[in-house]
Amino acid sequence: MPTFRAPRGTRDLLPHETPRWTRLARLADELAARYGYRRIETPMLEQAAVFERGVGEATDIVEKELFRIAPRTEESESWALRPEPTAGIVRAYVQHGMQTWPQPVKLTMIGPMFRYDRPQAGRYRQFWQFDVEAIGDPGPAVDAEIIELGSRFYADAGLGGVEVLLNSIGDPACRPAYVTGLTSYYRDRADDLPPLERDRLGRNVLRLLDSKDPAMAAVNATAPKITDHLCDACAEHLESVRAHLDALGVSYRLEPGLVRGLDYYTRTAFEFYAHGREGQQQALGGGGRYDGLVELLGGRPTPGIGFGIGLDRLILALEERHGAASVAELSSAAPVAVVVGANPDDTVTRLRIATELRGAGIAARAELGQRRLGKQLDSAAREHAHFAVILGDELANGQVGLRDLQAGTQRAVPLADLARELKRASESHHHGLA
Ligand code: HAM
Repeated sequence: MPTFRAPRGTRDLLPHETPRWTRLARLADELAARYGYRRIETPMLEQAAVFERGVGEATDIVEKELFRIAPRTEESESWALRPEPTAGIVRAYVQHGMQTWPQPVKLTMIGPMFRYDRPQAGRYRQFWQFDVEAIGDPGPAVDAEIIELGSRFYADAGLGGVEVLLNSIGDPACRPAYVTGLTSYYRDRADDLPPLERDRLGRNVLRLLDSKDPAMAAVNATAPKITDHLCDACAEHLESVRAHLDALGVSYRLEPGLVRGLDYYTRTAFEFYAHGREGQQQALGGGGRYDGLVELLGGRPTPGIGFGIGLDRLILALEERHGAASVAELSSAAPVAVVVGANPDDTVTRLRIATELRGAGIAARAELGQRRLGKQLDSAAREHAHFAVILGDELANGQVGLRDLQAGTQRAVPLADLARELKRASESHHHGLA
């Protein structure tokens, strides 16, 4: 047992794992840019009140999962690590007067989030999200555009068949009456409810609808559906989101039990699930409209919509389908060339030449150990370098040996031409296992 370990629920991403993350981050960045979203970075910690007010005091995320930072005695503010990006982004929108920018303001972020959750597969205390937010557009067209963007991201990442679950959770005009009706529905059946759900009844009754407790299935099957209790404006909004999704060819399933775990949502709510896994498994991503959030955080009333896609869960799903990254993938970082020499002590010349090659844009490494040429060549071959640049007696005449380690051939090359030769050769070949 090592003395120190990464904190429970957090992970190290090792060099053979990070290429998958880099690929997804690049894909996300590029896709969001194509749809007109621009990168924003907000601090990983905020005043705790941003989340208490934004995400909601009675949500699991704030009540149980917030990583609060012990305040220093000289500070009167209390902070928390961000459990999600939307509240911080909206705080920044208000703080920087983005309501005076052309609307909607379309923002994207990729970064780690923190929730003090019970760790299990796909559920971590530090996890990564790809987030997009369109602030200042009441929809419904942008709702469909954002759902289509999320679906496309999964497909481009190599995870086909991701299902979209869609619902409307109403707005302040129609939700209160529905919540009252739903509460009395559950109160009438209080004896059938598991204790945890009975406890939530008075605080966050909507969450009972998407309870994963099997004992709730029968009670929920006959519960009143929010989609039967929407006001005209919300019902029209939902119809129009659906018409736009149909026109874009995005398939989805209406799921009246989908309620989301954050309080800021109004109207459109959606989640992404791996095919055939909805219900039993955690969502791969989710989002929705939050038309009251800007005002709640001190801005003018402004509508907004966005999603968060969990990259950890996406990578797990990709690994389930395509296999895990192996340590062998380490060799994808193989240098194009390793500079080795017949004189074991001459690290100066080897390092100088490798430095020149790097300056010319070539991935090169010098053998910095003082060992025999044969050993130097062995280690270059073991790390799947494509070429060995061999320094020997011909160096006096400005020549080096260029050995193609994969083809097993060797020729003399003037030092002055070395970078050009390597560039040409490495462009026309593959090197390493990449
Ligand atoms: P969320 O549903 O709480 O929404 O999180 C979005 C996604 O983050 C989840 O679907 C899941 O993939 C991932 N996720 C959440 N918690 C964990 C965890 N403990 N471990 C691993 N992955 C996790 C939001 O955060 C909203 N801010 C989405 C949004 C953006 N709505 C509007 N704009």
